[in-house]
Formats: sequence, structure tokens, C-alpha cells
Amino acid sequence: MTTTESIRARYTFSQNLAREAGALAHGYFARLDQLVVESKGVQDEVSIADRETEVFIRARIAEAFPDDGILGEEGGDDRNGKSVIWVIDPIDGTACFVNAMYTWCVSIAVVVDGVPTIGAVYDPNAKELFHGVAGVHAGVSAGAWVNDKPARVKDVVDFKGGVLGAGFSHRSKPGEFTPFLHTLLEQGGMFYRNGSGALMLCYVAAGRLIGYYEPHINSWDCIAAVAIIQAAGGQCNDFLANDGMIKGNAILAAGKTLYPKLAAITGRTFD
Ligand code: IPD
Ligand code: CA
Ligand code: CA
Repeated sequence: MTTTESIRARYTFSQNLAREAGALAHGYFARLDQLVVESKGVQDEVSIADRETEVFIRARIAEAFPDDGILGEEGGDDRNGKSVIWVIDPIDGTACFVNAMYTWCVSIAVVVDGVPTIGAVYDPNAKELFHGVAGVHAGVSAGAWVNDKPARVKDVVDFKGGVLGAGFSHRSKPGEFTPFLHTLLEQGGMFYRNGSGALMLCYVAAGRLIGYYEPHINSWDCIAAVAIIQAAGGQCNDFLANDGMIKGNAILAAGKTLYPKLAAITGRTFD
């Protein structure tokens, strides 16, 4: 059984861990000229910075919470049927990282009984930690936060109300995405992409972007931010439905007024 105390302990731990892992990854970022970059696929790269940061995160979790499961982008699936699962992306925004751009972060989530519950996303360049707790344990964080400042989703009535985050990877077909962009622009909207889905989703939580859509994203890219957005008063689709934890899913996030309008221009059905 997960008690409020056990969630509080993991929440505090996740924040410290995201900052420590961010510092480790940033050490590699400061010595980029020495980094060997390998390709995992089209526009999909990895380096020792990703691998070593994930090794570090996993070791710290296993030491502190040996009974919890872990799923990570680089280290694989050690969920082992556990009810408390840590979902981690050691570096989200690797394409930016390896090309000396600053928009990347460490993303750490805790999913409890299938519910995105704790989110801690750290951007070491901006020195910003986005964090919060959602679901039945939402009281533990009492809202969402950027460092120690409250974060709140900006709820606007239409796309003219701000800038929308839009993500795309080559796991999706261009035709699944370009009609959405066309309609967004036709309706007076504007898009933003910085190469890190986790960070853009945290910008939604912080009220900087009015929403986010990506036709396919993986759980380690987004589930920490989903918890933070919900803690910040926003709405997300049921990302973990249909085995989203392993297969990924589309992600949709916005304030409660814009959400159905955003869903309508994606050309697909959302809950
Ligand atoms: C990617 C980034 C990108 C998003 C992709 C992700 P990575 O993660 O979040 O913004 O569009 O869906 O795979 O490869 O940088 O960890
Ligand atoms: Ca990622
Ligand atoms: Ca990654």
C-alpha cells in the first residue's frame, strides 16, 4: 500500500535526484568535444552522457527504494510487476545536448498503481526544477512548482491566446502532423519546438506555452511532465492507456478550456 508518507519520501528524493543527475549530465555537456555520439535511428542519437546518467539514477533509486520497479530509456524495463514504478529519461533533448544547444533536461516520474503521480524535471542550464504530485496524493505538493515558485497552467479560449508546443519524431509519419500545423496556423495560432518534449510540457505547466501536442512520444519523455501539468491545473489525455508505458502514445495537454479545441484540430480522437 502506498501511504502519503511513502509518496512524500519519494517526492523529496526525486527532486534531489533530478538535480544531482542534471549536474552529472552537465559535466559531460561542458566537455562536448570529447563526447562520442552514436546513432540509434533517424534523428535519434545517444552518447555515454545518456547512459552514465541513467546508470547513476537507477543505482540511487535501487539503493533508496529497492522494492520499486524502474523503466528507463537507455537501461530498459525492470518493472517486474511492481505497483510503484520510476520512469526516467536521463537526458531528454539529446539532439540539442550533442549539438551544444541548451534545451535539454533530466526527467524523473513515479507512477503508482498505473497513475502518473510524481514528476521532477530538471533543466541544469536554466537551473529550473519543475515538480509536483498529481492524483490521489496531490496534497503532498499542494500544486506544481518551478523551483520554489508556484506553477499554473494558462487556460486560454483559443489559439490566439499564446504559443503552442508541437513535437514530432520520425516514429510518426509527416502526414499525421502537417495538417495539424496547417489548421493551427489558419486559426491564428503559433507553434514552438525546442527539441525536448519533457521541457516543453513543463512550460505548459508553468503557463509559458498554452498547450502541447505530439503524435507519438514515449512514456519516459512525458509522464513526469503529465503529473506536473495535472498538479498545475491542466488536462492531459490518458497517456498510459493501451500500454502507453511501453508502446508510447500521442500526447495532448492544455488548460481545460483549450483542451477540446486542441483535440479537435489533431484529426484524432482523445478522451
Ligand atoms: C525526444 C525529445 C523530442 C520528442 C521525441 C523524443 P530524446 O527525446 O523529447 O522533443 O519530439 O518524441 O523522443 O531522444 O531527446 O530523449
Ligand atoms: Ca526523451
Ligand atoms: Ca533521452
